[in-house]
Amino acid sequence: MEKQKKSFKPNKKFIKNANVNSEDIYKTGLDKESFWGNLANDLFWHKKWDKVCEENPPYSKWFLNGKINVSYNCLDRHIKNGKQDKIAFYWEGENNQEKILTYNDLYLEVNRFANALKSKGIKKGDRVVINMPMIPEAIVSMLACTRIGAVHIVIFGGTGPIGIKERVIHAEVKLVITSDGGYRRGKIIPYKEIIDQALDQVDCVKDVIVVKHSKNKIPFNEKRDSWYHDLIIDAKEFCPVEEMDSEDMLFILYTSGSTGKPKGIFHSTAGYLLGVYQTTKWVFDIKDEDIYWSTADIGWITGHSYVVYGLLSNGATQVIYEGALDHPNYSRTWEIIEKYKVNIFYTAPTAIRTFMKWGNEWIDKYDLSSLRLLGSIGEPINPDVWLWYYEIIGKSNCPIVDTWFQTETGALVISPLPGISALKPGSICKALPGFEAKVLDEKGNETNKGFLALTKSFPSMLRGVYKEEKRYLETYWSKWDGKYYYTGDGAYVDEEGNINITGRLDDVIKVSGHRIGSAEVENALVEHPHAVEASVISVHDEIKGEKIIAFVILKESASDSNKDIEKELKKLVEISIGRYARPTKIFLVDELPKTKSGKIMRRILRNLLIKQPIGDVSTLENKSYIPILKNIIEEIQL
Ligand code: PRX
Repeated sequence: MEKQKKSFKPNKKFIKNANVNSEDIYKTGLDKESFWGNLANDLFWHKKWDKVCEENPPYSKWFLNGKINVSYNCLDRHIKNGKQDKIAFYWEGENNQEKILTYNDLYLEVNRFANALKSKGIKKGDRVVINMPMIPEAIVSMLACTRIGAVHIVIFGGTGPIGIKERVIHAEVKLVITSDGGYRRGKIIPYKEIIDQALDQVDCVKDVIVVKHSKNKIPFNEKRDSWYHDLIIDAKEFCPVEEMDSEDMLFILYTSGSTGKPKGIFHSTAGYLLGVYQTTKWVFDIKDEDIYWSTADIGWITGHSYVVYGLLSNGATQVIYEGALDHPNYSRTWEIIEKYKVNIFYTAPTAIRTFMKWGNEWIDKYDLSSLRLLGSIGEPINPDVWLWYYEIIGKSNCPIVDTWFQTETGALVISPLPGISALKPGSICKALPGFEAKVLDEKGNETNKGFLALTKSFPSMLRGVYKEEKRYLETYWSKWDGKYYYTGDGAYVDEEGNINITGRLDDVIKVSGHRIGSAEVENALVEHPHAVEASVISVHDEIKGEKIIAFVILKESASDSNKDIEKELKKLVEISIGRYARPTKIFLVDELPKTKSGKIMRRILRNLLIKQPIGDVSTLENKSYIPILKNIIEEIQL
């Protein structure tokens, strides 16, 4: 226990060479206008802004009337600075294919593909879906969209066809980019077939562009589908960039909330770019010679910000790996680090816990001495896991940055600065310079334990929920009357004044760092013809952080065997949301504990599952069903 309380300082060499090593930066950050204004000068602007910030929550704006392009800043700017031959990616396929792309290679491909998109009629403001494995063309597609001002909507590869369809219809998407397949643990994921199912009876999508990546034979709709390679060959080599207004929409990324359907979070162009550019420099201490590797998928915000835009805007070199970390065996991660001499490694606590479970023997035979900095993202990291990461992977020589952000914040908000902060396992330290985070009570007063709030505007903050302004205001801004942004997280401040996250306070579940709304899973379950009602909760899981448990009431007429129904229900969740949201266990029950007003008492379900006293039942309507429910739960070992 004593050991876990200890804090860790980076070594002198790290501090000396760090991009930021003076605490003064926190003070400079207090004058946010001049601070962010100075930093923004690093980027290329077609026209400089008139005003840095118009603070007007919930509608603050940044870099007013500036003109900028993200693709230009990620590619052209570096080429103009003589970095054309610098490697942007070492790409490694699951089955050991390799590709190396320099900044010039990427520039040429993005220009051609941007022209290909234009040839399909795509223009500024049009929405384009990207649903692909982690292959270079996925990143080319994102940059090509931003080059011409199209709004990309990247959908995670594991999303089911109904989930894709809902997003496509909601955003009135014109074009979809996908692949004939992607490799995962030796199997081929049929991206194109899933897209075909998703687009069945959808009118808005006029074109589907398919990247040939696997040897999968796919159905091809001659009227609608085209091959990426055919378009690239025919496309012109140069595509001028669209000069975007700072506040123009850059992308939409759907994420789960506590109620209903996923929300289309959208980000602005200039503010987002500056946020991810700057935080990459500070937190990952990125240097020209570094090789960085994040295991994040581009389907999530971490992939957008800390694979694509943060790294490319810094002109950095990174490794991109397509497949599963346990394929063909548990050493794959360490093999990749040794092979590419990775210096900075960024992953999620679930992955770290899994590495621990697999055992050190898979690690010991690899040379990890190239590593100099480690990062963690997406969920709370337990102190013992932090220590294992520090000692076994970092050989007690690499600072760990436990970074906090959200799809909504675009860029990191709370994190240690590796050249400054004393690192304490489990603590995310404090808000980065130019940001402000506080732990507040219900009334908006500062407290030691309560709700995590972001109390000042910053450039990369979401600008809204696509087509759902009311939801934007209610979800994020109603808690403290529009004054502060509510994160949905619980947090406490420790003795050193650092922030520690306790977890979500809403009905968002985090399974392996993936954000899943319990209401979304419930909605999917009740789509089953035999299901009447469902309630979904989560309980702690040693590896995944949380696991999903569902309770479903079936119609009396349900005749199939329960086992089949359980399978069908799980399948429904897979199709509607994705495999990652499949409940670990589904209990088929006759009743759910409800209050007299009909509200399901999830607390009772959770406490029965974790074998805790069920607490106050004064408002419970159906008390007599509790012993039956208890028996059902006890019969099955989770
Ligand atoms: O609950 C927090 C958790 O992830 C949520 C944001 O999820 P999402 O938008 O999917 O983005 C995940 C990747 C940024 C937060 O509200 N979270 C994120 N980072 C941490 C974290 N919880 C604890 N510690 C973190 N470092």
